[in-house]
Amino acid sequence: MNTTGATAAPAPPGESETASATSTTKPNASKTPILSARGLVKTFGRVVGLDGVDVDLYPGEILAVIGDNGAGKSTLIKCLTGADIPDAGTIELEGKPVSFRRPQDAREAGIETVYQTLAVAPALDIASNLYLGQERRRSGPLGSVLRMLDKKGMRDDALAAIQNLGIGTIQDMGEAVERLSGGQRQAVAVARAAAFGSKVVVLDEPTAALGVRESTAVLDMIKALRERGLPVILISHNMPHVFEVADRIHIQRLGGCAGIITPQSHGMPEAVAIMTGATTLEESPGATAA
Ligand SMILES: Nc1ncnc2c1ncn2[C@@H]1O[C@H](COP(=O)(O)OP(=O)(O)O)[C@@H](O)[C@H]1O
Ligand SMILES: [Mg+2]
Repeated sequence: MNTTGATAAPAPPGESETASATSTTKPNASKTPILSARGLVKTFGRVVGLDGVDVDLYPGEILAVIGDNGAGKSTLIKCLTGADIPDAGTIELEGKPVSFRRPQDAREAGIETVYQTLAVAPALDIASNLYLGQERRRSGPLGSVLRMLDKKGMRDDALAAIQNLGIGTIQDMGEAVERLSGGQRQAVAVARAAAFGSKVVVLDEPTAALGVRESTAVLDMIKALRERGLPVILISHNMPHVFEVADRIHIQRLGGCAGIITPQSHGMPEAVAIMTGATTLEESPGATAA
């Protein structure tokens, strides 16, 4: 299953538009992935969540992961980010083997994740949410001995982070998150990931519960991350969103990778057909790889 995806994978971003057929079959020829996984397996009792999946995330790209419910999208990103521990397989970050035992390990390594079950603390204000789990202490003995938080510093930086991402409608970082709309909460979660993710940002269905305007804001934030050079893994089953922002699309099906396509090589109906098993990548090889 994975060999299918690997051999048919189009060239990574940054490769010349005139890439020859040779470089199409060797997608990794010119660039080293930031995050790379091989043979990830995860079972839950008799349920196979992942059956040996490979993933490569290249610098500055948005890699979308699509697939039907239960295809293994969330399990895949949980295994990449320490929320699930794979039964088998290897993960490398910038070429070095890593083995995350919990989400905090991945965070410390520079991978920030917004999981599908949105993890914001509604009663806390925006700045506190941004720094949840990595609060900043005041300098000197006030911080080191009395454990006092640098609230002003966190609020100023939170505001800068949010403005950086173009969510200008949120002005007061002291506002409780429970008073925000779904889209603004999602924006806080994405902004938090963007503020702390130094190497990779992973977003699981970030627009699933959002309206059109809110989704647009989140998609714009994702594009802004790419412009900053930060690679993003975006899990979504919203085809228009995926086709709007993705550089490459990993199609997850029944726990395996059914293929890797690009918005240039395939259209939405073809992507859905591969996703649902109505066709295969071999039967629908698409246009010349992008
Ligand atoms: N913690 C779990 N316990 C048992 N089964 C699970 C667990 N997490 C995921 N699964 C199963 O693994 C498969 C893949 O799930 P998931 O990765 O959540 O799919 P997706 O995100 O693509 O909808 C499904 O069959 C799901 O029921
Ligand atoms: Mg999921």
